Amino acid sequence: MAAKLAAVITLLALLGPVACEYSKSNSSPSPRRSILCLGGWIRPIQILKLFTICPGGSDSNPPPAPSPPPSAPWLKVGYYNYSCPNAEYIVRDLVEKAGPGTGAGLIRLFFHDCFVQGCDASVLLDAMPGSVEQTEKFGAPNINSLRQSAFDLIDAAKDALKRACPKTQVSCADIIAFAARDASYFLGSKYNKMEYFPMPAGRYDGKVSLKRQAEQELPGPFSNLQQLTLSFAAKGLDESDLVTLSGAHSIGNARCLFFTDRLSEMEPKFADGLNKNCTRGGGNTRVNQDYKTPDVLDNQYYKNILDKKVLFTSDDTLSSTAHVGKFAKDDGSWEKAFAQAMKKMGDIGVKTSANGEIRNICSRVN
Ligand code: HEM
Ligand SMILES: *[C@@H]1O[C@H](CO)[C@@H](O)[C@H](O)[C@H]1NC(C)=O
Ligand SMILES: *[C@@H]1O[C@H](CO)[C@@H](O)[C@H](O)[C@H]1NC(C)=O
Repeated sequence: MAAKLAAVITLLALLGPVACEYSKSNSSPSPRRSILCLGGWIRPIQILKLFTICPGGSDSNPPPAPSPPPSAPWLKVGYYNYSCPNAEYIVRDLVEKAGPGTGAGLIRLFFHDCFVQGCDASVLLDAMPGSVEQTEKFGAPNINSLRQSAFDLIDAAKDALKRACPKTQVSCADIIAFAARDASYFLGSKYNKMEYFPMPAGRYDGKVSLKRQAEQELPGPFSNLQQLTLSFAAKGLDESDLVTLSGAHSIGNARCLFFTDRLSEMEPKFADGLNKNCTRGGGNTRVNQDYKTPDVLDNQYYKNILDKKVLFTSDDTLSSTAHVGKFAKDDGSWEKAFAQAMKKMGDIGVKTSANGEIRNICSRVN
């Protein structure tokens, strides 16, 4: 105990005068909920219930400025109809054969691509020529987290497309968008109302990828509604898009370290089960996000929010919006909204031949 206290004091001394960034939100129950560490990716530390600090120091970034809704009218449904008519089937075939975990990984990959530098496959780059900073995939939201099998599927698709259409290049950014659309369909259509939806294409691949940007622009699980709304607004997405797209947390998994601090806020039996698994395996143990239908992309997420059976602060905080009650109804409205929101997200920061290229290998610039 004495050693622990000494460690905390040393930590405090090392951090120096930490100006904790409290947001002005009063919608959150405790101050711990409104301080943001590393964009909401690191859990703040509370000391003697008196003050709250960020391990490693506080964020000093100003809140992001809002953007107009994304718009890329030059993207076309069936962009490869003539140049590579089988392009979308080739991707779809690989996604259909992949497991639900890879499907979840692909949907998340699209989100993490689009929110940082736009939907330009910047998340796939291993290095950026001329930069000492590591790339997005090494940032806290991505490292040891984005699924290797999702990266592998994109590479396999790229190879297959190069073989099928040697003269046409299909961009890595479009492959991610197609694969995320296909995964949404295969995981969402089995038992419910998710229809196959068109995904416009014609994106170019970017040449810039920066770790720090991924950490600043992807909202973290310790964020409250105000912080999430700001981070989506910075990409031109509104509160409805935020709540709609968060429904992707009805599939895939998450590590205990992102939610064990709020077990007491959850439905007690649900929390007990999580506590057992997390205690046994530690912070890096993975649990299903949706305890009920873990491999189905459906509106169960919204029922879980109402039942206090969701993992993150960023999930629970959506309960105060009107959208949750609406999407919890089994009328197919969430599935329709999800398809539209995925398409809208796919318009963020799209590159053209003027500021992008079509990569030969998805993990490297040409
Ligand atoms: C609203 C803010 C969001 C936050 C704070 C957030 C945070 C997270 C976190 C912390 C994880 C677990 C990562 C790990 O334990 O390694 C996760 C998983 C996941 N997220 Fe989100 N997320 C958000 C929005 C979204 C959106 C918009 C999508 C897609 C449309 C999405 C799709 C997923 C999927 C599919 C997984 C499971 C991935 C897998 O199993 O490989 N998330 N998210
Ligand atoms: C490609 O074909 C589909 C199906 O016939 C059609 O809906 C789409 O508009 C076409 N796109 C282009 C760019 O020709
Ligand atoms: C806990 O782990 C067991 C065994 O791996 C698993 O069957 C169960 O679904 C897990 N519970 C939760 C809440 O993830």
